[in-house]
Amino acid sequence: MTEYPTQEISSCTACRLHKTRQNAVPGRGSLDAEILLLGEAPGREEDAKGEPFVGRAGRLLENIISQVSPGKWQYWIDNVLHCRPPSNDIRKVPDCELTCKQLWLQRGIDSLPNLKVIVCLGLTASSIWFPNLKSHEVIGMCRAVDGKVVIAAPHPAYMFRPGGGEWVKTEIATALELANKLCMDQRLWQQRSSTLRPLALTTQ
Ligand code: URA
Repeated sequence: MTEYPTQEISSCTACRLHKTRQNAVPGRGSLDAEILLLGEAPGREEDAKGEPFVGRAGRLLENIISQVSPGKWQYWIDNVLHCRPPSNDIRKVPDCELTCKQLWLQRGIDSLPNLKVIVCLGLTASSIWFPNLKSHEVIGMCRAVDGKVVIAAPHPAYMFRPGGGEWVKTEIATALELANKLCMDQRLWQQRSSTLRPLALTTQ
């Protein structure tokens, strides 16, 4: 099993974003998690703290998570880019996005041994598995990839943009509920299939 490359991400100098960042931002959470929440890139607060989703969008996300799943809910949270793009504008750094994906995305996924569902938060993450779809087309879509389910949800920051609103919360909550249910169903299926006895063969 691959180990999550926290130290390597923290000291990464593979693209020009290392020159403008305060801190690189590796993922955080439980490496035993069945669910990966994948955002876009660190913003100002994440850059200052070196942790993903600790700013306004992160607080909204935590709020939605606690409503959907009031108990202890384990997840791993990460971004496609691990360094803040200047002015938070990811469109200006497509080369860095590509480098970051090539270096870290699969390693991050492979370091979660129990991973069952990836919830993409926003178009940057969604377009990895749902290319060529626009934001309004992709939200709510699901597909199976390498034995995992990928779900496309809006980014929590949409809530604060023009056109944002309650629908953003509702869509994220729906994606998280589905992710939880899929994990529960798979656990049930695994329990059941390990207790099934082989069918008795009857001779006639
Ligand atoms: N937006 C993101 O996509 N990721 C963060 O970590 C914070 C805001």
